[in-house]
Amino acid sequence: MTWDKLEAECLACRRCELCTDRTHVVFGQGVQTAEVLFVGEGPGQSEDEQGLPFVGAAGKLLDQMLDTIGLTREQVYISNIVKCRPPANRVPKPDEVAACIGYLEKQIEMVNPKIIVLLGATALNNWFSKDMRITKVRGQWFEKQGRHVIATFHPAALLRDPRKKPDSFDDFLSIKQKLSEI
Ligand code: URA
Repeated sequence: MTWDKLEAECLACRRCELCTDRTHVVFGQGVQTAEVLFVGEGPGQSEDEQGLPFVGAAGKLLDQMLDTIGLTREQVYISNIVKCRPPANRVPKPDEVAACIGYLEKQIEMVNPKIIVLLGATALNNWFSKDMRITKVRGQWFEKQGRHVIATFHPAALLRDPRKKPDSFDDFLSIKQKLSEI
């Protein structure tokens, strides 16, 4: 499997019903050799319109958080649990996740990042552990498939509740620290 083939397959995907209303598939964005890979939930309206991840309000905040630790989106890879926008931004359904998660798994395998950052509960529960709560485990380091894994609040959650920002800031500093150690 090559990257181009994976992307082409994903862009033509009709494995679940989310394909019917999409404007664009949001495959992902960033460097294919990134050391850090971020996983969000799924495209929102702006992402669906532009075909790129995290380009709306939550994305602007993500860019700011990256900036605080000296990273730009050109240095990381950004992807999502599902690649097509769920209607009215609802949480993706289990069958939609099951149909789509293989694309993320392949992206992770091919980018081969040292660190995976799970943004919010959907990423945490669908990629790492369905029994964990983001409020409990955020900021802690785990390991999966030989990679360092950390979960932090989704930027949209920070916009809804700015009181979460200091914790999120700490988590990003921890990512910076981990990057300097490896
Ligand atoms: N929220 C997400 O989870 N992913 C995006 O790409 C945009 C907003």
